[in-house]
Amino acid sequence: MTYPTLCFISGDGIGKEVIPASAEVLAVLHLPYRVVWAQAGWETFQKTGSALPDETLALVKSSVATLFGATSSPTTGAVKGYRSPILEFRNQLGLYANLRPVQSMPVLASRPNIDMLIVRENMECLYIREERMRDADTAEAIRRITRAGSARIGKLAAELASKRRGKLTIAHKTNVLNLTDGLFRQAVRAAALAVAPDLQIEERLVDALAHDMVLKPEQFDVIVAPNLYGDILSDLASALVGGLGIAPSANVGNGVGVYEPVHGSAPDIEGKGIANPTAAFLTLALLLTDLGHTAEAKHLQQAIRQCLQNGQTTRDLGGSLSTEQFTQAVLQQLE
Ligand code: NAI
Ligand code: MG
Repeated sequence: MTYPTLCFISGDGIGKEVIPASAEVLAVLHLPYRVVWAQAGWETFQKTGSALPDETLALVKSSVATLFGATSSPTTGAVKGYRSPILEFRNQLGLYANLRPVQSMPVLASRPNIDMLIVRENMECLYIREERMRDADTAEAIRRITRAGSARIGKLAAELASKRRGKLTIAHKTNVLNLTDGLFRQAVRAAALAVAPDLQIEERLVDALAHDMVLKPEQFDVIVAPNLYGDILSDLASALVGGLGIAPSANVGNGVGVYEPVHGSAPDIEGKGIANPTAAFLTLALLLTDLGHTAEAKHLQQAIRQCLQNGQTTRDLGGSLSTEQFTQAVLQQLE
């Protein structure tokens, strides 16, 4: 019998530590998948001339989902031919939404009673990367927001909110960006009300929203935001519950999803064996939930929480466990 495949891509830096650890975790859950390993990222670019080789894209497309570690950006600025594989995935696979759940964790660094989901538009806004030098001293960038792009993220955010506490916050800055954010706000609201008329919708200026997210994070349920605001707000939000070492995310769209921890390749700790694999494990749990394995995903989330509660933590959370030791602790909880 041949099982459907899950594509695992370690990528660069600590991706090479936390993704193999996630494969160990997946193995003990005994689910009917075969893991295929593929390459992408900066090192892959240096070896092959492509950050996302065709073989990798083919494996991703033929798999039911992909778990991706992290990619490093070239430190020397723009490098000819290099494009981040993550941006490439988003475009090639139509992954128009980046979902970032933020939940209180049983660690000292986490504030209590936080349970929010940031729904970040993933393909538009400033991330279309249409930048140019107008003259030697003036750089400019196009910020593109479409009605269709805003409506589809609004619809998804509303569907997710109605399965949660029924509250949707739209982040915008229409007092300055009248046209782009005006269109986003209006199209999101219309699409949201069309699928969930009972939803409680609030519209918030993104700066004041950032303020309240730090001061009163308990009040938020689902937050929907254009790409750049969503990127910034979600890193901010992860800091409220323990930081990048525990923050998971899912890139989803109409087809296969690419799931990745929020953190990058962490060159400052790479190769030391001390990276926190929790973000990758919780990302695996998101992937399994989306594939319908909710019981296994919950089991994994609970095992992680139990370890953290026991004080079994890596250094970023004040403990002393290595990546491997924490992984073993989670594996033990799972059994
Ligand atoms: P980063 O997320 O790699 O690291 C930020 C800080 O958090 C570092 O001090 C790091 O040691 C710590 N950290 C992150 N994840 C951790 C974990 N699992 N356990 C313990 N500590 C952890 O962000 P940074 O330093 O801004 O970027 C490093 C490289 O990663 C850059 O080349 C950047 O372009 C890339 N990057 C890639 C992303 C992706 O693949 N989606 C996302 C963000 C950055
Ligand atoms: Mg980010």
